[in-house]
Amino acid sequence: MDTFEIPDEIREHFRAARRAVAFSGAGVSHESGLDTFRGAGGLWERMRPEELATPEAFRADPGKVWRWYAWRHQTAAGARPNPAHLALVRWETLFPSFTLITQNVDGLHARAGSRGLLELHGTLLEARCHRCGKRRDLGEAVAESPEEPPVCACGGRFRPAVVWFGESLDPRVLSRGQDEAASCDLFLSVGTSSTVYPAAGLIELAHRAGACVIEVNPEPTPFSRLVDLRIGAPAGEAVPRLTEEIERCRTRG
Ligand code: APR
Repeated sequence: MDTFEIPDEIREHFRAARRAVAFSGAGVSHESGLDTFRGAGGLWERMRPEELATPEAFRADPGKVWRWYAWRHQTAAGARPNPAHLALVRWETLFPSFTLITQNVDGLHARAGSRGLLELHGTLLEARCHRCGKRRDLGEAVAESPEEPPVCACGGRFRPAVVWFGESLDPRVLSRGQDEAASCDLFLSVGTSSTVYPAAGLIELAHRAGACVIEVNPEPTPFSRLVDLRIGAPAGEAVPRLTEEIERCRTRG
């Protein structure tokens, strides 16, 4: 990772930035032992998303979907935040305004201590009734009913409170994220293949708004040519080092 050179003009952005955004994907939790979705060994390389992560799949076989999310909940609960999650907590005090926008549903950013998190794709930690929307702890719901989704008092079924393919994101969360991306002056994209929309559109919004855009990902993404600085390294190594550089720039001026 010794190729991690920061050009002076980027350091200038580190010094001057007042509004920063970090945008994360499954890759940021990879070093915590959680699978990504795409790329070698990804979940969607081994399983069919249309059979597990769509409303149609839940209608067709609610037990199969429920057991799969129970497994993901268990693996996420057994994982620990890594140095990348922990370093992003420090961004909250580095900038007058900082927003962490994640596609992840694993809860590791919150467990690392991040506040004011925007979870674009929902959370694995909660279940909600597909009919009345009532929410409850997913771990408790699985303990009560490990094989099939429990039934709600309204007669509906509880499902994981995540956004499935073909479903809309919470418009309040999405528009908040879009506002932050369009008004920031430093944007970090870390651990995402940048291929799933509308989330990936945030990178473009920040770029068009003139923000300094940084990408951390061992693999190139469709935005790699557009960003101002690309760091082709694992987040657990790159984000703490980047954070130190930013701290150095902002404290030494
Ligand atoms: N550090 C940084 N990036 C990493 C690391 C790592 N240690 N390991 C893998 N990556 C990168 C991969 O190269 C890949 O580009 O993380 C990216 C993960 O991409 P995806 O698996 O596509 O995950 P993500 O971008 O978060 O997916 C978006 O798709 O399946 C849906 O709802 C799900 O939120 C998810 C969305």
